[in-house]
Amino acid sequence: MLKEEILRLKEEKNAVILAHFYQKPEIQDIADYVGDSLALSRIAANTNKDIIVFCGVYFMAETAKILSPEKKVLLPKMNSLCRMAAMIKAKDLQEYKDTHPDRFIVTYVNTRADIKALSDVIVTSSNAQKIVEHYKDKKIMYVPDKNLGTYLRDLTGYDIDVWPGYCYIHDMLTIRDIKKMREQYPKALVLIHPEAPLEVLQKADFVGSTKQILEYATDSEATEFIIGTDEGIIHALQTKNPNKTFHLLSSGLSCVNMKRISLEDVHQALLHEQHEVDVDPEVAEKARKALDKMMELS
Ligand code: 13P
Ligand code: SF4
Repeated sequence: MLKEEILRLKEEKNAVILAHFYQKPEIQDIADYVGDSLALSRIAANTNKDIIVFCGVYFMAETAKILSPEKKVLLPKMNSLCRMAAMIKAKDLQEYKDTHPDRFIVTYVNTRADIKALSDVIVTSSNAQKIVEHYKDKKIMYVPDKNLGTYLRDLTGYDIDVWPGYCYIHDMLTIRDIKKMREQYPKALVLIHPEAPLEVLQKADFVGSTKQILEYATDSEATEFIIGTDEGIIHALQTKNPNKTFHLLSSGLSCVNMKRISLEDVHQALLHEQHEVDVDPEVAEKARKALDKMMELS
């Protein structure tokens, strides 16, 4: 009933529903597109719909607004906030830039608009390596994820300074978790998101973004996998691969902020066109330059 009403309102209002892989299964099931942060940004930038209902966290809806300023962007629960994005403040980044003018600021998409506005280029977990390799001659400051930054430094050997932020669910993964799960499921391949600590990533069979993990598991001849990222991805993995088996690397892999949105919230957001995300135009213009550079290079 609610589902039909959402789909009816979506047509009536010429809206598109985007959902990140970490959303609840019922939200992924009503979305027009389910994807990682890069794919969803691309869709938001190119949609011809009037309204974008973004089922994700605040920085994702904000990024959609920056890339599509003429659209109405709705975030069904305004308190869906990425904890990593809260680990960097614009005044601190400005101070870093003032004291380190030689550092090129490479910023993870998991940040608010004011941080993107102070950045040279934005990256996501899908394109970070490719974009950093493009700037091989620069001295880089990677913000705000220390784990992804350290992983990039290890992969490339470049001069990369890292901000001390992290994702609380990925950061708690340990090599003990891997050892335990490999003992329990010896045939399974271990696939992990690069927001995990380097020593954990070094024990994985594959490291990639949510979308890359989905593609890897789908294309692989293996039939059993241990997944080191938010449990929301299991729904997409299992739907695409009904004959394969997936185990979560740790029981704590669930981002509370990604699970706030319910079908009722999506319905209310569409019905009243409420919870609109806005970005200060001056900030948005600067942030857009850094995002456009990412789009150009990925
Ligand atoms: P992806 O870029 O893989 O979608 O990851 C986003 C995110 O928030 C991971 O915690
Ligand atoms: Fe942010 Fe981590 Fe949640 Fe992703 S999983 S939205 S990085 S807190």
